[in-house]
Amino acid sequence: MKTKIVTIGKADSQERIEEKLADAGDIIRQGGLVAFPTETVYGLGGDALNPESSRKIYAAKGRPSDNPLIIHIADMAYLNRIVREIPDQARKLADAFWPGPLTMIFRKAEIVPHQTTGGLDTVAVRMPSHPLARLFIQKAGGYVAAPSANLSGKPSPTLAKYVVQDMDGRIDMIIDAEGVEIGLESTIVDVTSDVPVILRPGYITQQMLSRVVGEIDMDVTIYDDSSTQAPKAPGMKYRHYAPKGELVVVVGRPQKVVRYINEQAAMHEAEGKRTGIIGTQEMLAEYHAFSIKNAGSRNDANTVARQLYTFLREFDDENVSYIYAESFAETFADKGFGQAVMNRLLKAAGHKVVHV
Ligand code: TXA
Ligand code: MG
Repeated sequence: MKTKIVTIGKADSQERIEEKLADAGDIIRQGGLVAFPTETVYGLGGDALNPESSRKIYAAKGRPSDNPLIIHIADMAYLNRIVREIPDQARKLADAFWPGPLTMIFRKAEIVPHQTTGGLDTVAVRMPSHPLARLFIQKAGGYVAAPSANLSGKPSPTLAKYVVQDMDGRIDMIIDAEGVEIGLESTIVDVTSDVPVILRPGYITQQMLSRVVGEIDMDVTIYDDSSTQAPKAPGMKYRHYAPKGELVVVVGRPQKVVRYINEQAAMHEAEGKRTGIIGTQEMLAEYHAFSIKNAGSRNDANTVARQLYTFLREFDDENVSYIYAESFAETFADKGFGQAVMNRLLKAAGHKVVHV
């Protein structure tokens, strides 16, 4: 399949943007697949109400078909048709955080095919805030099923070049545009129970959610995922975002962390193995290794979130065999978003943590 790559940028008039997105929307209506930017990561879109489109999404990603997809909508009026009911809590959360990086799990309406929900009777719905995503969804008929636009097992793409790397030849169109700024996938909240439950942490934090709905629970596997306890065996469950190199998160006082990482790097590199480091701005000058990534200031979770998946892909491209990352847990704990950053970092590390 020939993949059309369409760039949308500042040079495009509103009319031209509408034309390009109308073409993209037509592809979706005809059962094809289009990768598109959202404020979190790139999505791989298909018609959510067409079971054949969902089948194609799984095939393009190489993803098991029991892993459910998120339906993206652009307008609250479209929610009614795909869910059985809209609980009060969900309305409040939608008022507060939609459009934006929040996904909610509802009981699904009959019209939503089980192919889209991975066989479940619930459905995940998100209204993204990225203006091109919204316009694209409208042009596509209102219901775009989209997982992240990466091959299964790769980090979610935050740059169009990584979508091209993973999806060229596998889908009909890739829309290349700016504005994929958050860098981690949306927060997922299950609103089918009396007390909403966070299933995946993200930019919309537990604090922000509980300010709107009061009590809120957290799925127990997230505690496991964010745990800095002794490393567990890296089960498939935790290897979703894994780089090729062996990634270890190093926890401790900054000077001890730097010393440990430098010792490890020197040892590996003496054996001819390339080593990568993800370090905070404050410590960066003290590291010595083949590839050193700047995670930004230790007081700002946004910077590392935006770049984490890019770093992981760059390490793969650089053939790095060992990767060490500082821990962002304590430094970001009070800000909320650090929880999502650590959740993804620990998944990528297969929960390998060293305390120094
Ligand atoms: O930010 C995002 O959410 C991005 C952009 C493209 O919107 N999408 C995304 O999709 O991250 P994906 O497919 O990579 O992750 C969707 C997650 C999966 O972990 C899936 O298991 C979960 O949502 N999910 C989907 N439907 C569900 C349901 N009915 N019940 C529980 N979990 C569900
Ligand atoms: Mg994904």
